[in-house]
Amino acid sequence: MSEKPKYYITTPIYYPSDNLHIGHSYCSTAADTMARFKRLTGHDVYFLTGTDEHGQKIERKAKEAGITPKEYVDHIVAGIKELWKLMDIEYSDFIRTTDDRHVKGVQKIFKQLYEQDDIYLGQYEGWYCTPCEAFWTELQLKDGCCPDCGRPVERMREDAYFFRLSKYQDWLIDYIRENPDFIQPSARTAEMLNNFLIPGLQDLCVSRTSIKWGIPVDFAPNHTVYVWIDALSNYITALGYDSEDDSLYQKYWPADLHLVGKEIVRFHTIIWPIMLHALGLPLPKQVFGHGWLVMNGGKMSKSKGNVVDPVRLCERYSSDAVRYFLMREMPFGSDGEFSNEALIKRINSDLANDLGNLVSRTVAMIEKYFGGIIPAPDAYLELDRALIDEVESLHVTVTNDMNALQFSQALTSIWHMIGSCNRYIDQTTPWILAKNEEDHPRLGTVLYVLSECARVAAVMITPVMPRTPERIYEQIGVTQDELKTWESVKHFGGIKPGSKVKKGEALFPRIDVAKELEELERQQEIAEAASKADEDVVFEQKPSISYDDFSKLQLVLAKVLECEKVPKADKLLKFKLKVGNTERVVVSGISKYYEPESLIGKKVVLLANLEPRKIRGIESAGMLLCAATEDDSALSLLTVGEDLPDGSGIS
Ligand code: ME8
Repeated sequence: MSEKPKYYITTPIYYPSDNLHIGHSYCSTAADTMARFKRLTGHDVYFLTGTDEHGQKIERKAKEAGITPKEYVDHIVAGIKELWKLMDIEYSDFIRTTDDRHVKGVQKIFKQLYEQDDIYLGQYEGWYCTPCEAFWTELQLKDGCCPDCGRPVERMREDAYFFRLSKYQDWLIDYIRENPDFIQPSARTAEMLNNFLIPGLQDLCVSRTSIKWGIPVDFAPNHTVYVWIDALSNYITALGYDSEDDSLYQKYWPADLHLVGKEIVRFHTIIWPIMLHALGLPLPKQVFGHGWLVMNGGKMSKSKGNVVDPVRLCERYSSDAVRYFLMREMPFGSDGEFSNEALIKRINSDLANDLGNLVSRTVAMIEKYFGGIIPAPDAYLELDRALIDEVESLHVTVTNDMNALQFSQALTSIWHMIGSCNRYIDQTTPWILAKNEEDHPRLGTVLYVLSECARVAAVMITPVMPRTPERIYEQIGVTQDELKTWESVKHFGGIKPGSKVKKGEALFPRIDVAKELEELERQQEIAEAASKADEDVVFEQKPSISYDDFSKLQLVLAKVLECEKVPKADKLLKFKLKVGNTERVVVSGISKYYEPESLIGKKVVLLANLEPRKIRGIESAGMLLCAATEDDSALSLLTVGEDLPDGSGIS
């Protein structure tokens, strides 16, 4: 048996930010999609991601928080890993630049470059803010002062090591010209050549003495390795390059694809190839620079306050829906606008309507007309042939598009086929065929064709939407693994007549656009208030109470049975609550924050033994617990997500 070809793909290593946004998920989703596609098409895939944890910024943030830099990054890295799990980002390894294996690897690389005179000692000059202990470049200054504290800065110098980029510039120009696939999309090749390489490279500062949080240069420990030699080396230190066990390096290097955002293409196609060449190592086969997900015209960033939280979106709509949107909305390589409205509309039109309807109509008709058993096809007519041809040509088109990282184009072709299926239902009118006994063979053909098309769609969306295919297979009765492979959809006709279909839940429920947008906006306001509150709220402790005092409060879980607005009282909501085997009414002044229907079924926290009080003529028996900002601009009703019974005590 021949060995599988290897495929090594990487994302950039992310800066540990306490607020990873949907833009960061974009790169990882694309890399994961590609990794899944390569696995499906018979490759031995190694997919690396990780975090870039050193530097002045982390050092300062940790100091502000009163913890060590390592404690600071540990906490954030845990959150990043959770996000990738939620989004089904299935990496082979997660490298942290604080890992011992990375630290040792970087020290060796630095030393080798120094010993062969590619690194030399010089002086770094920049603007220095003494209170912040930070160097700034001319561009970073705000009105000539420190961008952090606003105080005046001074011109300062310090010893630093430099990497001789200039020595390799002509070699790199030739290499890039001879390897036109190295930088993709190809427009970025010209940008690198014309804007950076041809005008001439300056040697690069690769160590600093004023920054302590980083990898020490082992032969000059007052120096810390500075930014790019540390960060870029991760792609080989993760594989055990130059370590006792370098088997992964031997197997997977050179990388087949470094996937990076467009702003860091420059570092990956200039500094990185020069580093590798100087070390005598082969170069990655390709660096692909993708575009940005922008909002209101600008790249998402915390300082601009335009970030979108991927956790919230995945929890509301499923990770598959979010992944589909990211890969479908913009051609890979270009920028694209993110908006909640665009996301919800896509979910409704492409997922709920097109894909959802194809599966649910097909299964419903097979249940209704053939007792749930997929019929065998009879003779194919021209109409069937046209659809079958489209399905068979799809395999080549989608394979090519996926290989070229044109995810949006691949999905467009798949959805074209799904659209053709829905039109085919309207053209063949199965419900009319069903009326006539002699049309039943024809009806069987139509439903066979549709169930096979649903299978093909399920297989083809697997790299982008890893969870949905299984839900489709379950409904259309596909159980054998060999009918779920990429190879199995090369030719039409894999699905087995005689299999049993089973109606399931709607794949993607339709969303009420207007209501949903309102709800998302409300949540965004809460999130914004929360992030401001973190910094601004002054917490004042009240006088202590005894355990006895506390035990008098009867806090319980209550289930919302009914919820409605109180007429002529715009602040009030009237709740009917179930608490164990009892029911009661409670009135709460939170109407401004919630649509009453959205609260039905929720488990809320009730102070049950508060003395009853009449509010607008309604006797209210207890109080619902909420968290709110001091000025009441944002409020959240306390709910418990776990499946505990109402009536459970809270202590
Ligand atoms: O650059 N749209 O880390 P990072 C699309 N540590 N992609 C986005 C995005 C957006 N709105 N915002 C961020 C670094 N990204 C370095 C890399 S590699 C040796 C060192 C992408 O956390 C961005 O383009 O700032 C980049 O590819 C990735 O997220 C990590 O960005």
